[in-house]
Formats: sequence, C-alpha cells, structure tokens
Amino acid sequence: MRASSIRTRLLAAFLVVAVVAAAGLSFYFLKELEGFALRKLEERLYTQARLLAAVTSTTYLDSSGAFSANDAQRLQAALDQATPYAASRMRVLDVEGTAVADTTPDDVGSAYGDRPEVKRALAGEYGAATRVTEEGRVALYVAVPVENAGKVRGAAYASSTTFSIVTLLQTYRTRLLIAIALFVVVTLVLTELLARWLSRPLQSLSATATAFADGDHGVRATPSGSSETRTLAVAFNAMGEEVGNVVTELKEEERRKSRFVSDVSHELRTPLTAIRGAAETLLDGDVPEQDARQFLETIIREADRLTRLANDLLTLQRIEGATGELPLRRIKLRETAEQAVSALSPLTDARGVEVTIEGEAPTVLGDTDRLQQVIANLVDNASRMSGAGRRVEVRLSREGDFAVLSVLDEGPGIRADALPHLFERFYRAQASRDRSTGGAGLGLAIVSAIVRAHAGTIEAANRPEGGSIFTMKLPVIAD
Ligand SMILES: Nc1ncnc2c1ncn2[C@@H]1O[C@H](COP(=O)(O)OP(=O)(O)OP(=O)(O)O)[C@@H](O)[C@H]1O
Ligand SMILES: [Mg+2]
Repeated sequence: MRASSIRTRLLAAFLVVAVVAAAGLSFYFLKELEGFALRKLEERLYTQARLLAAVTSTTYLDSSGAFSANDAQRLQAALDQATPYAASRMRVLDVEGTAVADTTPDDVGSAYGDRPEVKRALAGEYGAATRVTEEGRVALYVAVPVENAGKVRGAAYASSTTFSIVTLLQTYRTRLLIAIALFVVVTLVLTELLARWLSRPLQSLSATATAFADGDHGVRATPSGSSETRTLAVAFNAMGEEVGNVVTELKEEERRKSRFVSDVSHELRTPLTAIRGAAETLLDGDVPEQDARQFLETIIREADRLTRLANDLLTLQRIEGATGELPLRRIKLRETAEQAVSALSPLTDARGVEVTIEGEAPTVLGDTDRLQQVIANLVDNASRMSGAGRRVEVRLSREGDFAVLSVLDEGPGIRADALPHLFERFYRAQASRDRSTGGAGLGLAIVSAIVRAHAGTIEAANRPEGGSIFTMKLPVIAD
C-alpha cells in the first residue's frame, strides 16, 4: 500500500472526529428536545384537563352530583365554542367513563371506562398514557378526576397527538444535517490549511535532503516549524557536515592516490630508460671494453635504484597501512643512534663526512629497527648535502615530557619554499641535483610516517650559523 501523506492522514482523522462528534451531539440533542417537548405537552394536557375538571365540577354538575341531560348539553356547547382554538381534544366522562361531552361531538357517548388512565382518574388519581391512534399517530392521553362534594363524579380527559413534536424534530434534524455538512466542510478546509502548515517544514527538509542526495553537499536545512522538525533539521545538518567532511576526505585521498601512482610511474621511468639505453648500446656491439664496463655499471646502479624504490614504497605502505601497533620496546635513543651511525659509516666515510653523537635522551617506547631507519635517513641526507670535510652531529636531549633527537649539518640549508614540502612523498628540493645524488625523495616521507606511528613529531629548520637541523621529539614513557 502506498504511504499516505500527512495531509490525508490528518484529513481522515479530523473527518472521523468531526462526524462522530457532530452525529453524537445531534443524537443527544434531539433526544433531549423530544423529551422536553413531550413533558411540555403532558403539562399542557394536564393543565387543560384540570381546568376542565374544575369548571365542570363547579359549573355544570347539578346538586345530585350526576350529569343531567341539561348539564351535558351545556358542557357540549361550551366545548364546541372552545374547539376552534384548542390544539388538543377534550372530553368530559361520567363515572362509567362514557363521554358526556367531546370537542369531537360525533363521539359523544363513546365508552372509555376500560382505558387504564381513565380508570385511574375515576379512582381519584392522575392518569396518563401514550398510545397509537386509529390513524396511526402517537398520542398522549391525560385524565383527571372531576370531584364534587368529596366524591368522584367523572373525569376530564385531554389528549393530543405528538405530531407537532415529530414535525419539530424533523425540522431540527434537517437543520442539524445542514449544520453537520457545513461543519465537515469547515473541518476539511481547516485540515487542509493545518496539513500544509505542518508539512511545509518537512517538505523543505525533504527538498534539502534530495538536493544533498543529488550531490550538493553544501546545502543545509533551515530549522523551522515544530520542535520535532527543528530537531530533525539540526540532526540533518550535523549529518550533512559529517558526510561533507568524509566526502572531502575521500576526494583528497583519491587525489593523493592518483598523484602517488603518477609519481611512482615517473620515478620508474628514469632508471628504466637508463637501463634500456645502456643495454641497447651494449647490444649494438663494438663497444670498447672500458665503455662497456661503464654501461654495465649504469645498469646495475639503476637496477639498485629500482630495488631501493620498491623497498621504500613497501616500507611506507607497511607503516602507513599498519592497523596494529608497532612492536614497541623500551629504547635508549643513544644506543639506537650509535647503531644507525655505525651501519652508515662506510657511506659517510666515503663522503668524507664526520658524524658525531652528543648528549643523552630519556627512554622512549618504540621499534628499534624503524627508529634506526629514521636516524639513518636523516644522517644520509645530512652527509650527502654537506659534502666532504663537513661535520654532521646527532644531538640527544630532553625537553619536558619529550625525548629529543636532532641531526645538524653544515650543508647548504633548506630553501624557505621547500620547507613545508620536505616530508611529502617524492619531494626533492633540488630535483635535478638530488636525482643524481640521492634517491626518489621517499626518505623523509618514511621518516615522517615512522615518527607519527610513534606519536612523535619531526620538524626541519635552518640553523642561524648555516646548515639545517632536523628535530624529532618522542613522548617519554612514565616509569
Ligand atoms: N639535511 C638536508 N639539507 C638540505 N636539504 C635536505 C636535507 N635533507 C633533505 N633535504 C631535501 O629534502 C629532499 C627530500 O629528502 P628525502 O630524504 O625525502 O629524499 P631524498 O633524500 O632526495 O631521496 P631518498 O631519501 O628517497 O633517497 C631532498 O631531496 C633534499 O632536497
Ligand atoms: Mg633521503
């Protein structure tokens, strides 16, 4: 089944309420009205009967207490005069219940003695009954005793059909039906307005949501309407913010990935071209022994470069993609630095650079191999950039809750515009020179990834006295 709108539901609910309320009220009202009219009718009949009984008893009964023919004639004459004005029928009955006078003169002489209300009146009490007449109409009958000298001499008998009440009720019923119809129409109109008013904030919210779903992640809902729709709008906006951020991150990630792939391809191309060129030249033959050696060395060097590139990429991938923690141990940074520097000594010696280690740093938690890799990369860069005859210093210290390891050199320093990019993948400050002397520009990216995995920081800066300084800070473990 199709879900109905708020409008339809409100309409249905209000219609049911309106119709039930109107019908219930009308039924109650009509019932009350009928009861009231019947009571009024009975009161009227009673008053008339009482009056007729009193007049009859004092004026028309002779001293014997029985109706003489003369009495009956005079009574009939009086009733005949009253007939055109009487809305009810009136009779005077003798002690037997036989009519001696009647506003319907033809019925004089009819016997009513066996009617219960008449029997009661002849017994000196008040009698009333409702009965269906010969014409099929409902009529009310009231009988009261006619008394004289303490004795019941007959009865005054008044009756009337309830026809006027029925007519009255019918008129009211018709009017009520019209009123109910009007009521329903008004309800419909009001419901329509109410539904629009209630659903407007929801419609605007759903328009916003649709726009959002269509990719416009900047749209925000304006909180309006009831507290519920306001809450919904606020929640929607919070969600929009969240999704917007995630989408931005995903796009950024996507961009990084594609740049990474193109960087890698670019890095692969240079050594491959060199290898291919050397191999082709050798294939042509007729290359002097001396040159052939050089070409072969080129091939080996470039192949080594490719291997290193593959290893570096793998390392980066392992560190950054690692979900679990590093295998952490308590580490004395001085020892680690010594190991890294000694492992690197053949290279630094070859470059003619002297590397020294100064100071002490507090114990940290870390992965020895990775931290050695950090120091080796920094010292490698520093010694390469400095050149023969210069000094590189690894300095250890403590700064608050951090163990600090700095690598200082006497090289050319770093250009200001290069500083913010040093730790990016494949970044080289002097592209042409570094490509021949150094590697792919992954060293500092690896350094940065390792330091971040240790919850530490690393910064590069220029020393006032010349050369650069790379400073790594790692949180000290609480003993
Ligand atoms: N101590 C330093 N003094 C001056 N410039 C430096 C120093 N260390 C790094 N750089 C600059 O930062 C760049 C990035 O260094 P990084 O270690 O990431 O790459 P690389 O050394 O060129 O290559 P790789 O480390 O992959 O062999 C270097 O190319 C160099 O231009
Ligand atoms: Mg490097």
